[in-house]
Amino acid sequence: MGSFKPIRKAILPVAGLGTRFLPATKAMPKEMLTIVDRPIIQHVVDEAKAAGIEHFIFVTGRNKTVIEDHFDKQIELESTLRERGKFEQLKMLNDLLPEAGQTSYTRQQSPKGLGHAVWCARDIVGDEPFALLLPDVLVQAPNKGCLAQMIEIYNETGGNVLAVEEVAPELTSNYGVVKIEDQTADGVMKINGMVEKPGPGKAPSNMIIMGRYILQPEIFKILSTQGLGAGNEIQITDAMKTLMDSQDFHACAYEGRSFDCGSKVGFLAANVAFALERDDVGEEFREAVKKLIS
Ligand code: UTP
Repeated sequence: MGSFKPIRKAILPVAGLGTRFLPATKAMPKEMLTIVDRPIIQHVVDEAKAAGIEHFIFVTGRNKTVIEDHFDKQIELESTLRERGKFEQLKMLNDLLPEAGQTSYTRQQSPKGLGHAVWCARDIVGDEPFALLLPDVLVQAPNKGCLAQMIEIYNETGGNVLAVEEVAPELTSNYGVVKIEDQTADGVMKINGMVEKPGPGKAPSNMIIMGRYILQPEIFKILSTQGLGAGNEIQITDAMKTLMDSQDFHACAYEGRSFDCGSKVGFLAANVAFALERDDVGEEFREAVKKLIS
């Protein structure tokens, strides 16, 4: 195991418009839509926390103050719960609360793309490697969370690590797609090419970047001059391509399955998958689904 700077901070970009979920997202951020009884963003913060992240940096936009409120104390609610003897709920809320000073918020005044959102967090991250988690991607992992699996690889390789997964070839045009160089002796995959939303026949593989990244701080300098890319947005993939000229990128084919909660079907599927795994409602829900389908 190498001795590399630890990954202590995570960027969570939540400044997108969520147009695919209108009208739900007219006044509420899509990251507050719930998977069973937890906002999507809570699931992602939990994954980051379990991987040892100590500081959560939210890049927010309009209508996102509710996310700040969610990760803050709610004095009135807490005293009402106490008065009513609802101590279990009270404990649950307190357990979920980040410690004082563990969260930062910065605004992306207009949604110019994921690369731009990441760049907005440059001063808060400073000169250290960091994790980037796209909150609309949720991962259900049997043993260890996706970011924790990536950090295990990072502890061996240093540099940059991207979680990847295979998709059907006709879907690659929706994602950043990587080219894998070779399989090293210890099974770690090296990335030697990437392209954002490749056109027909242009995808270097069917391995996509699925929404979890470990990046070195040199990415910020590249992002500061990064021009517009696919979809007329400043793309993180384009900046990573430049960084690849001077630094290593490794792939983590993580164990688990992902849900694209930015799409309606992905969001609904995530709700079913997470509900079925719950100790409290899983069995009852399974019966309800069976009934509906039959
Ligand atoms: P998406 O493109 O999936 O999110 O970005 P969106 O724009 O909110 O969704 P639609 O397509 O309009 O429905 C992936 C993630 O990056 C964030 C989004 O909030 C989302 O979590 N993002 C995207 C930003 O923070 N800023 C941006 O400029 C773009």
